Amino acid sequence: MRAMKKLVVGNWKMHGSRASNAELIKGLLAADLAATAPKADVAVCPPFVFLADVAEALKGSAIAWGSQDVSVQAQGAYTGEVSGPMVREFGAKYAIVGHSERRSYHLESDQLVADKAKAALAHGLTPIVCVGETLAEREAGQTEAVVARQMKAVIDTLGAQLVQVVVAYEPVWAIGTGKTASPEQAQAVHAFLRAQLKAALPEAAKVPLLYGGSVKPDNAAELFAQADIDGGLIGGAALKAADFAAIARAA
Ligand code: 13P
Repeated sequence: MRAMKKLVVGNWKMHGSRASNAELIKGLLAADLAATAPKADVAVCPPFVFLADVAEALKGSAIAWGSQDVSVQAQGAYTGEVSGPMVREFGAKYAIVGHSERRSYHLESDQLVADKAKAALAHGLTPIVCVGETLAEREAGQTEAVVARQMKAVIDTLGAQLVQVVVAYEPVWAIGTGKTASPEQAQAVHAFLRAQLKAALPEAAKVPLLYGGSVKPDNAAELFAQADIDGGLIGGAALKAADFAAIARAA
């Protein structure tokens, strides 16, 4: 049985400052999501440098936090990398891995993403593994083949730990474009991913499947109503407290 609560995660990407984050968090705390969005588990993923501030500000609240990436390595001569133990030290619960922006701008392979998911788990973080096709891939009828390939690396690498991940389906063409996948399009891919996970490991049928890509207050309820959509990974709308709170309440 899958969790009845939806999971709504804000990916702040490379936005914000200490001052604007403080404002945003003030708005989120004022929204009292524990009371006003009781059917949602909520988390935010700020840039690494703000994790300490965010941890301090959200401590004791109903909102969890995570990182936007994590190194495969735990420690060592890896300039510019940030490891799972470091992120954990700031109380993070989640680590996004394999976001399409990392796959495309930082050339992250399916295997590297799978290894990052494994590293996150090794250090007590729940990986939010992102998969999704480009517009060209969708138009070429390759959506299922692409997400299946991305997912397979994770399945093969994690084995029985597969049950511990969160998966986010983020069609690249819907990210930051204002073009949301229709609820039917998203549901179709989610059902496909659910079946793939279940075939790999029956218990993995309960892995939460989030949808990401131009989720807004006015389309969230319809997306979250789909049978296999267990929540959302929110970009732009997560930067406005009112919008993010409205999305959590749509759960
Ligand atoms: P937008 O909500 O801005 O489209 O971004 C989605 C996303 O990439 C979240 O990780």
